[in-house]
Amino acid sequence: MSTTEHLLSREVPGALMKVTAPFAEPLDMGSVRLRNRFVSAPMERNYCEVDGTMTDEYIAYLARRAEGGAALIFTEASYVRADGKGRIRQMGVDVDERIPGIKKMADAIHAHGALVGVELNHGGRTAQGSVSGFVPVAPTPIPCLVVGGEMPEQLDGDDIEHIIECFGEAAARCQQAGVDVISLHGGHGYLIHQFLSPAYNHRDDEWADPTLFVNKVIASVHEHAPGITLGLRFSAFEGIDGGLDAETTRSRIDAIDTDRLDFLDVSAGNYEAGQWIIQPGEWSRGLLAPYSEQYQRDFDIPVGVAGRITSPEIAAQIIESGQANFVSMARTLHADPDFPNRAVDGGRYRPCIACNYCIDSLAAGPIPCSVNPWVGRELDQPTKPADATVRVAVIGAGPSGMAAARDLALAGHRVDLYDERPSLGGDFALASKLHEYPEYGRIVDWYLAELAELGVQCHTSTRADAALLANSDFDAIVLAAGGHGPVTDLPGAQTRTVRDVREFLVSGDPAPEAITIFGADREAAAVADDLLQKGTQVVMIGPQETIAHDVGRRGKIVLLPRLAASENLTTYLSSIVTKVDADRVTISTGGVLSEVDAPGELLISQGVEPRSELLAELRSLAPRLGVHAVGDASGDGGSIHAALVTAADVAVAITAAAAARQEVHA
Ligand SMILES: Cc1cc2nc3c(=O)[nH]c(=O)nc-3n(C[C@H](O)[C@H](O)[C@H](O)COP(=O)(O)O)c2cc1C
Ligand code: SF4
Repeated sequence: MSTTEHLLSREVPGALMKVTAPFAEPLDMGSVRLRNRFVSAPMERNYCEVDGTMTDEYIAYLARRAEGGAALIFTEASYVRADGKGRIRQMGVDVDERIPGIKKMADAIHAHGALVGVELNHGGRTAQGSVSGFVPVAPTPIPCLVVGGEMPEQLDGDDIEHIIECFGEAAARCQQAGVDVISLHGGHGYLIHQFLSPAYNHRDDEWADPTLFVNKVIASVHEHAPGITLGLRFSAFEGIDGGLDAETTRSRIDAIDTDRLDFLDVSAGNYEAGQWIIQPGEWSRGLLAPYSEQYQRDFDIPVGVAGRITSPEIAAQIIESGQANFVSMARTLHADPDFPNRAVDGGRYRPCIACNYCIDSLAAGPIPCSVNPWVGRELDQPTKPADATVRVAVIGAGPSGMAAARDLALAGHRVDLYDERPSLGGDFALASKLHEYPEYGRIVDWYLAELAELGVQCHTSTRADAALLANSDFDAIVLAAGGHGPVTDLPGAQTRTVRDVREFLVSGDPAPEAITIFGADREAAAVADDLLQKGTQVVMIGPQETIAHDVGRRGKIVLLPRLAASENLTTYLSSIVTKVDADRVTISTGGVLSEVDAPGELLISQGVEPRSELLAELRSLAPRLGVHAVGDASGDGGSIHAALVTAADVAVAITAAAAARQEVHA
């Protein structure tokens, strides 16, 4: 009996009744049957060619999600006409040339027993000419400031009819390529949503009818791709003043030809309220399920819901309580494609920490994942154990150290992991204490369980240096000691307590009455936010022009307004501290000096420098497979993702070197 079955087993008098987890049940939807209730939600990844053609990398990514057990794998919002393209490497279904790539992708997903879905979309006012090469079009010319603010052209009737035709033709292409399910993107502020919304549809012609466009799109898909399973994704509310609230959305859905649809998929938000599309980790799990409940109850077709469905327990609860028939999961499956299989067999899965680094990277290019260094690199991921196993010491048990130790042990190597602190986790563990990052503790727990199961020998409260390792005969050493704040030589620093912001977190000291932070970067902002929640008065002085300049838009969408609203925060931006006194500091703002109140101790948040001082002495040990620095210790940290990638790559390099040496000596 699997753990899940065990957890869900119920004692009945005289017998143990085995209850199958509700998410493991199949679900009929239109002409297809889902093998379980896990749907890999549409998620733009920027993995296609610039012309929208499918790539082998993207196919490998999607096939890996199919292998992981999800029933239905959606690709992403895919443009049906070139002027609806919103991302540089977004998937296109606009021309017949895309069909072979989509077919190859569909075949790869089918090979793992999953169904394939494509979400048809036109970006409307959110598609920018800088990306698509076309002037954006919209029901009403209202620019979308959050993505560039280009003024769209108002669509005329003929052009609207043409886009409707394009939706149908795109569906036909998908059907021809073997796609099983089409979802129309009716939410998140894209074109269909723009017609539905009073905030973006101010027309006075027949298209003022908010559901005319989507109903004609539904008809067009039926005409061009008869028999294909067709559904609608929509936002249960827009999240902006003057937009669609939950009640008006319901009236819109009532007016849509849902009798011609096979499913509904409930999401939320629009571009101006992105926090409702991709919710921060501070918000509760499964938070949109209360909104999907009425649709599940009142409509005779399967209803799905998205939004921080991050554990088997919350998925089971949503389905069992009748809030939805299936769960749409984006980040959870991005972080761990095996989540569905693990949910069903009760195994361990790698949790998403809701850092939103994936979405914040979308405008720049292919999206990574902070906790999974193999995302988007599935074709390079090692799949078999090492040919020759060796002994490796890993020094430092922060993100990159734990990742290196795990990857090496997974390959079959014998690993000793050292950390001078009494517990493992490094920066992950420090961040997990902060208000902004409540999910970070989950990844530490996951690593601890993985390392234990893989037999990694963990040595806490142990400072590993050359002397300690000298007699241990390690074949390779990985230095993952992280970084430290730069040395401060501020005049007057001796007059008060001055510490690096990380040292403060490590100390575990209680929230003080007042504190001054020199720096306005990610760490400074997160610590300030946390202390403000606890009632501390915070003075923040930063050379940066804005707070948390190194955090992506989504990452600060909730944080910045909260900081701005706090009465206990005083900020001096574009300023540096030049001199420290007991409870005041001198700051220079554009060369102009002034003295300001700076209560409490002074925390320094000026980035990290690699802790690489051990490198030379470790190299003197000359282990036969080398000494390798990873993460912040290598200077390649910068982000959790970058740190984990250096760790994963070093593990691969050590494995390859071990095999090569074996061949040489064989
Ligand atoms: C990087 C990224 C890209 C996304 N792209 C799409 C998309 O193309 N179409 C869509 O309907 N939703 C998209 N979403 C929203 C997700 O499908 C999902 O509704 C949302 O992330 C909340 O679910 P989660 O908590 O499981 O991530 C995207 C989300 C992320 C993180
Ligand atoms: S990047 Fe962060 S939010 Fe996105 S899937 Fe990975 S852990 Fe989750």
